[in-house]
Amino acid sequence: MIILKYDNALDEKIYNEGLSKNHLFQNQKKFVEIHTTLNQKIKDENLMLGWAKLPYINFEVDKILKMVQQVKNKFDTLLVLGIGGSALGNIALQMALRDKFWNSFSKQQRKGYLKIYVFDNVDPDTAKSLINHLDIKKTLINVISKAGDTAETLATFFVFYNQLIKKVGKTKAKDHIIITTGPKTGFLRELANQGYCRYDFTIPENVGGRFSVLSPVGLVSAALAGINIKQLLLGAKNMAEYCKVGKPVEQKDMLNNPAFMFALINYLFYQKGKHICVMMAYSDRLYGFADWFRQLWAESLGKEKDNQGNTVNIGPTPIKALGVTDQHSQLQLYREGPNDKIIVFLSVEKFAAEVKIPKFPKPHYLSGHSLNELLKAEEKATMASLTQANRPNINIILPQINEESIGELIYMLELATAYAGELFNIDAFNQPGVVLGKNYTYALLGRKGYESYLQELKKFLDISS
Ligand code: PA5
Repeated sequence: MIILKYDNALDEKIYNEGLSKNHLFQNQKKFVEIHTTLNQKIKDENLMLGWAKLPYINFEVDKILKMVQQVKNKFDTLLVLGIGGSALGNIALQMALRDKFWNSFSKQQRKGYLKIYVFDNVDPDTAKSLINHLDIKKTLINVISKAGDTAETLATFFVFYNQLIKKVGKTKAKDHIIITTGPKTGFLRELANQGYCRYDFTIPENVGGRFSVLSPVGLVSAALAGINIKQLLLGAKNMAEYCKVGKPVEQKDMLNNPAFMFALINYLFYQKGKHICVMMAYSDRLYGFADWFRQLWAESLGKEKDNQGNTVNIGPTPIKALGVTDQHSQLQLYREGPNDKIIVFLSVEKFAAEVKIPKFPKPHYLSGHSLNELLKAEEKATMASLTQANRPNINIILPQINEESIGELIYMLELATAYAGELFNIDAFNQPGVVLGKNYTYALLGRKGYESYLQELKKFLDISS
C-alpha cells in the first residue's frame, strides 16, 4: 500500500510555519462530516462522483479485453486523440507502466500489443510529423471526448480520418476507429451510432473528464499496450477500501486516511498563504502523474464561486517538477524564494532496475554506489534542505511501480481532490472556466448556436464580424 508521510509539514520540523498536531486533530470532526457527505454524494447517480465506483463495477472492462484480443496482432499502433482529461491519464499510465522505449520495441518484444501515441494538441507541426511517421494502414485510432464535440479532438480526428480514407478507403476506415465518448449526446456519439467505428466505448455520464482515467478513457489504450487493467482497478479498489469509501468513519480514522490527510494538509497550508503545490516526482516513470495531478487539482479546485454562490476566486496552483533534474532548475526558488509553496515528493521505494556506478580508472567516491542510491540520497537531501529552510514538504511513497500501486495512487489523488473540494467549499466536479473557453472557440469558428458568444467576444477581441 502506498503511504503518505507528513512529518516535514509539522511544527516540530517546520518552525513557525508548520502545522501543529493539535491543529490537525481539530479537524477530526470535520473529517467525519465531509466523509459522510461524500458517501451520500457518491450514492447519488446524478452527481458527478461516478469515478468513485469505477473500481467496483469494472465498467466495460470485459468488452475492452475482448477488443484487445481481436485487434492485437492485426494492428501495430494506437493513436489516441483527446485532450485534457481525455489524454493526460493515458499518457501517465504509459509513462508509468511501459518501458520508455516501448514504441521502438519490435512486435515480438511487445508480444503483439500496440505502440501508443497520444496526440493531445492541435499543433500542425506535430500533426504533420505523425502523418509522416505513422503507417496508417496498421494504425488504430481511439478518438476520446466525453462531450463528443471538443473542437481540438474532432479537428485532429478529421485530419487522421482523411488519411485513413486516402490509404484504406471509406469502407475499411471504420475498422480502424475506436470511439470513446459520452453515452447519449455529442457528435462522436452520433458517429458511433451511425457505424463510423468498429468499437465504441462509453464514458459514464457521471464521470468527469479529469476523473475518467479508470473508465474506458484510460483503460482502452492501457489494455492495448498490455497493461493489466484488472490489477489497476484492484489497486484503486484497495485504496477505496483503505479509505473506507462508502462506509462510515470515526474521528480516529482520520490519520489513517491518506487521501483526507493529503487534502487537509494542502488546505491548511493554503489558509496559511501557501497557494502553490509543487508535485515533484522522483522517478521519470511517475512524472506523467505529476502532470495528470496538475490538471486534476487545478480544474477541480480553481473556482470563482463557492457552494453558496459567493465570489471567492479560490484554488491552489499546482506545479509539476522532476527530481533529481529540477534540483538544478527549480530548487533554488523553492528553498530560498517566497515561502508560498508546499512540496509534494512523489517517490518510489524500490525501482524495477538497479544500476551500479562502476569503478572508474581514477578513484572516486561515487564508484561502488548505484544510481538508485544517488537518487535516494538526493531526494533525502532535498527534503532536508527544504525542511531546514522551513518549507513544508510531504511525501507520497509507492513501494514499487506496478499496476496495483498506480491504481492506488490514482484513487488516492482523486479522492483527495473530492475531500479538498469539500474543505474549500466549492464544486470540484465542474469546470465553467474551461467550458467558456470552448464556447468562445466555437463562436470564433462559426459554429451554429454560439452567435451570442461572438457578441460577447467583440468586447475583448478585435473582430470585424
Ligand atoms: O476534466 C475535464 O472535464 C476537461 O479537462 C476535459 O477532459 C477536456 O476539456 C476534454 O473534454 P472532452 O473529453 O469532453 O473532449
